[in-house]
Amino acid sequence: MKYTIIFAAFCSLSLALEPSSPLSRRRTFSITAASIAAISRPSVAVEPYPFEARDRKSNQGAIIREDYWYLVGKVPPRQLSGPLKADDPQWNAFGSCTSNAVTGNSCTYVSLKQRAPAYSKYSFALSYGAKEYAKLGQLLQQRIALSPTDETLWDEAREYLVTPMKSIPPAIIDAELKGVLFATAMTTSPNFPGPTRELLVARFYMNEAHYASQQMLAAVEKRDIVRAIQAWEFGKDSWNSYFQIVNRSIVPKVGEKFEQIV
Ligand SMILES: *[C@@H]1O[C@H](CO)[C@@H](O)[C@H](O)[C@H]1NC(C)=O
Repeated sequence: MKYTIIFAAFCSLSLALEPSSPLSRRRTFSITAASIAAISRPSVAVEPYPFEARDRKSNQGAIIREDYWYLVGKVPPRQLSGPLKADDPQWNAFGSCTSNAVTGNSCTYVSLKQRAPAYSKYSFALSYGAKEYAKLGQLLQQRIALSPTDETLWDEAREYLVTPMKSIPPAIIDAELKGVLFATAMTTSPNFPGPTRELLVARFYMNEAHYASQQMLAAVEKRDIVRAIQAWEFGKDSWNSYFQIVNRSIVPKVGEKFEQIV
C-alpha cells in the first residue's frame, strides 16, 4: 500500500513537471523524498516563486492602497523574521510623548479598551480564515498534487477562493479585509495622528495575501498545480508576517495570539 502511494505520487508529479530540465528532476526528487519521509503527510516541495518582486502598479487592485510600500517606497521582506520595531516618536501634535515601562510610548499606546473589543469582533474571522488557508494548502499539496486530473478536487480548491453569486465571501477572502480593519483598531493610537509603521506594514502584508489568493485562483483555473502551490506558499509567508505584527498587541487581557500557518 505504502509503495503504491509513493509510486502514484512520483508518477503524477513527474507528469505535471517538465521532465527534461534539471530543475524539475530536482523537484521530483524532493517530492519523492518528502513522501517517503512522511508517508502520512506527503507534501510537495516547489521552488519559491518571487511574487514579491512584481510590478505593483500603484497598488491598483490592492485591498487598501495606502500601505507601507505605497507611502514609503520600500518593499518589506517577503517574510518578517522577527518583531517589527515599533514607532517611537518624541512629540505629537499636543506636546512631548512620555514613556512607561508597561505601556511604552504614550503617543503610540493603544488602550486595552480599544484592543479588547476589536479582538472579539475580528479574531474569529481571522483564525477561521487561517484554518481554511491551511486546509487549502493540504488540498493542493497532498491531494491535487497526487491526482492532478481529478476535477472534483480542483472544484473544491476553487470554492476556497471564489465568492458565490449573491453570497458571502469564503473565509479566506473575508479574513483579508478583516485583517486590514483589525490592524487599524490594534495599532491606531488616539494620541498620534496618522498611521503608524506597524499599521502600514500590516496593510502591506494583507495586500500581499490578497494578491496571493488571486494568483492561486488563476493557477487553479489553469490547473497549474506548481504555480498554485507557489502562490499558496507566498500567501502563507504574508499571513504569518501579518500575524507577527498584530501578535505584539495581543496581550493576555486581549486574547490569544495567532498561531503560524504551517
Ligand atoms: C504569535 O505569538 C505566539 C506566542 O508568542 C507564537 O506561538 C506564534 O507563533 C506567533 N505567531 C506568529 C504567526 O508568529
